[in-house]
Amino acid sequence: MTGVDGPTADGDARRVAFVTGGAGGIGTAVCRQLAAAGRTVAVADLSREAAEKVAADIDGIGVPLDVTDPDSVAAAVAETTERLGAPTIVINVAGWDELKPFLETDEDFTHKVLEINLNGPIRVLRATLPAMVEARYGRVVNIASDAGRVGSSMESVYSGAKSGVIGFTKTIAREFAKYGIAANTVCPGPTDTPLLRQITAGERSGSIIAAMTKAVPMRRMGTPDDVAPAVVFLASDAAGYITGQTLSASGGLTMSG
Ligand SMILES: NC(=O)c1ccc[n+]([C@@H]2O[C@H](COP(=O)([O-])OP(=O)(O)OC[C@H]3O[C@@H](n4cnc5c(N)ncnc54)[C@H](O)[C@@H]3O)[C@@H](O)[C@H]2O)c1
Repeated sequence: MTGVDGPTADGDARRVAFVTGGAGGIGTAVCRQLAAAGRTVAVADLSREAAEKVAADIDGIGVPLDVTDPDSVAAAVAETTERLGAPTIVINVAGWDELKPFLETDEDFTHKVLEINLNGPIRVLRATLPAMVEARYGRVVNIASDAGRVGSSMESVYSGAKSGVIGFTKTIAREFAKYGIAANTVCPGPTDTPLLRQITAGERSGSIIAAMTKAVPMRRMGTPDDVAPAVVFLASDAAGYITGQTLSASGGLTMSG
């Protein structure tokens, strides 16, 4: 566990974390590890029930959130602020994809991938950064993917969206550094979650997963608990001088200078 900061008290500007996709594979691990590091966590996901289930174990709250809908984003941030205080730690985990050759993708698919993976984090930060500016404190961690760093066959649009997240995060880091806000990107590689099982489902599932695993120097797929410590570190008080960085948690799959 990465309990780098210790507990925070009511009224402490560093107390409240807002995690999108918090009921998913990586999101749940992030919520649990943030709570273990002393944060009070708003678990935000499509289903309030699923979010509340994760929140119940960590003394947090669950809020419904659809990152593709600006009204839903505003409502989730408002509910969090009312019940816990304004979040100053925002972790964008919500994401979605399907494996498709580029020429089999169409406008609807492209729209959905960009709305969830790129416009989602943009919307969430537009709604949450003003309170961080006011607090003169903030930690933003956006989850992209190694696909956004080096490309990934059958994930053309998703890779473009995740590259967009990396560039977007760097610019947020530049614009908001003067307010004590750090913004960084964490890139998982293949990680054993419901999303990965869903996109690799089918008769070639075994061979796709075997090929993914073989490409990883550590020769195993990641787990959500392998990814979460990178997020919790970058969300910590200790990481305040680290901003605009892209950190892979992928068993060595991507090693870039
Ligand atoms: N699993 C992997 O191999 C892998 C690899 C690289 C990057 N990632 C990224 O990690 C993040 C987490 O993925 P995961 O593997 O844990 O997937 P997951 O499907 O287990 O979790 C994703 C969560 O996002 C939520 N979500 C989807 N659409 C949403 C929306 N419109 N609004 C709000 N929430 C929404 C889902 O309900 C789900 O709980 C994603 O951004 C994904 O792109 C995953």
